[in-house]
Formats: sequence, C-alpha cells, structure tokens
Amino acid sequence: MIYLDSAATTLQKPQAVASSSAWAINHLASPGRGGHRPAMAAADTAFACREAAARLFHMEDPERVVFTFNATHGLNIAIKTLARPGSRVVISGYEHNAVTRPLHGMRADVRVARSPLFDQTAAVEAFRQELNQGADLVVCNHVSNVFGFILPIEEIAQLCRERGVPLIVDASQSAGALPLDFQRLGAAFAAMPGHKGLYGPQGTGLLLCGADPDPLLEGGTGSESVRQSMPDFLPDRLEAGTHNIAGIAGLLAGLRFVERRRVERIAAQESALIRRLGMGMKRISGAEIFQSSDPAAQAGVLSFRLRGWDCEDLGEALGRRGVALRAGLHCAPLAHETAGTLETGTLRASVSAFNTGREVDQFLQILRSIPAKH
Ligand code: ALA
Repeated sequence: MIYLDSAATTLQKPQAVASSSAWAINHLASPGRGGHRPAMAAADTAFACREAAARLFHMEDPERVVFTFNATHGLNIAIKTLARPGSRVVISGYEHNAVTRPLHGMRADVRVARSPLFDQTAAVEAFRQELNQGADLVVCNHVSNVFGFILPIEEIAQLCRERGVPLIVDASQSAGALPLDFQRLGAAFAAMPGHKGLYGPQGTGLLLCGADPDPLLEGGTGSESVRQSMPDFLPDRLEAGTHNIAGIAGLLAGLRFVERRRVERIAAQESALIRRLGMGMKRISGAEIFQSSDPAAQAGVLSFRLRGWDCEDLGEALGRRGVALRAGLHCAPLAHETAGTLETGTLRASVSAFNTGREVDQFLQILRSIPAKH
C-alpha cells in the first residue's frame, strides 16, 4: 500500500512507538496515583513526555504542556476558556470543524479573515483588517489540513500581541512537521494531536498553555483531593481522570523520533515530496491541482481533482489500486468554501517522514492509469 493520508493519521510510525506503548501497558500504573514503583515510573514517563514537547515547542515550563485526547479536546478547552456567547472571534478561512463547531455552538460572533489560497501576504492583511475592527480572540490554524497552506502564524501572532488579543493556534498539521516556537508566538494556547506529525498513537494530544485555562472536565487528579474544586495549577487543572499512559509512552517515543530526525529536515523532505507530486500531476490530463508556486507557503499536503470524476469515487478507485488517501470535505467545509471546492470536495494526498520519492512516482503511475472522464 502507498499510504498518503498522514494529514489524518500517520500510519507508519517509528518502531519504538508501538514497543513503548506495549511496555507501558505491562509496566506502568498511573501518574500521581501512588508512591509505588509502577506509579512513579508512570509519572516519570509522563514528565519526560512533557519535557520532550517543551523542548520541541520552545517552552520553559514542561508543566504547561497538558495531555489531551486529541487536538479537538485541546481546542475545546482553549476556546471555552477564552470565548463567550457574543465574543467577536476572528478566524482564518481555512479552519477545521474542531474550531468552527465549538464557536458556533456557543454563539460567538465569528468573523472570517478570508484570503486566497497560498497568499500569505493577503492572509496577514485580512487579519489586520478584522483586528482593526476589534476582536476578543483569534483562532488560526498553522497549516490547512485540506490544502497544506502554511498560514503566516508569526505575523498573525504579532498583530495579536500588538493589540493584546489572545491567540489560539491549531497546530494539528504542523506539530512535528514545521518548526513552531510557542514562546516567541506569545500565544494563549496551541493545540495538537499526538497521532499525526508527532507519530504517537491515536487518542493522544497536547495543549500548550500560555494562558490560564478553565477545566473542561472535572474529577480526580491525585492532588489536593480534599478540595471540591479542581486544582488551580497545571497540568492537574486540566487532567482529570486516569491518564492514557500507554498512549503517552508511545507519544514520547514519537517526540524523540522527531527530535532526533529534526523538524527542519522533516519539513524539507515533505516539501520536496509534495513538489515532486505536484510536478508529476501537472502532466496528467484532466488533473486540477491546488499547489503553491512558493514552496514556503505549502506543507506536506496536496489537494487535487480529476476531470469528470467524483472525488469519493476516485478515492475508492485509488484505494482498490493500493493507494490510501482521503476524499471529500476533510471535516473542513470552511476551507473548501474559501477555496471554491465546497460542492465537489477534493482528493487529498498527504505525506510523512516515512514516504519516499519512489512511492510518489508509483502513485503518479497509478493515477496516470485512471482515465479522465469528459
Ligand atoms: N482532521 C483530520 C484530517 O484532516 C482528521 O483528515
């Protein structure tokens, strides 16, 4: 199989991810739930994972790295801490339902800073214009999960800092795939899954906390047990209930892989693969590709359509030929609306550090064997 669906989940993982999770199931108990050896070893593993994330994202305090179930969980905590009904919230035109649904659900006054695909200058200008009209909060993804568009998050963060507006970064597609300096951004929060570019297991995620969050869940934390309100310190304030320690042990192995391989090198490899894919697709009759002429504006994700084909049907046809990619709206109708692909959706190919140029060439060969319809 040629796996090109890493924007959903990286399937090929460093070998140590599965072995660390299996080891944790057999050897670790629960962090903060006892002074015995398996509980202490679990606490050490959890702390090592926070430390590895703090190093990768340039944070001074590992205790401000909070474990979540996924990026959606982290985004819900962040959004529900900082937005209220009627809050004026500025978002990019490329946000995922994990951002738009919580905002819609609480009846926030959502303003879309709309800008054309792959135009970073226009994106900054769109945010500037919206922010000049006042904002309570900005939520912006670093990389569009549909198109791989790299939003100019540093410039957007600067606009927010200048105006004192808190920023939530959805780093779902960039964590582990692009450098991200949380401290320099000065963001209130950044949410990310563990199971994409960090190569951890599904059911893991991280929330980086620059601001003080409100808990989404309440319950036991193994600390201040006599109090009937959640502890006011991190990470306990957000980590009610037993941890997914097997997932965390796997995530630690994934973070160590990214650290060893270096995120800059992973970014360069993914960018080269996407350029190779785009160049090959340009020669396929009837293929319409969504690719930036500026490699600095696109990460390891490429959307396309093939003339006459329904995207879901083509996705299935490619699946039968051994290619795994995702078709449809990718849980991000706003991104498709902005790019003008809402009616059809797109097919999306997305790569990881485990893909090769040879796989890209094989995929192109398979795609060439599929006739465009007229
Ligand atoms: N949001 C993930 C994707 O883009 C699941 O496929």
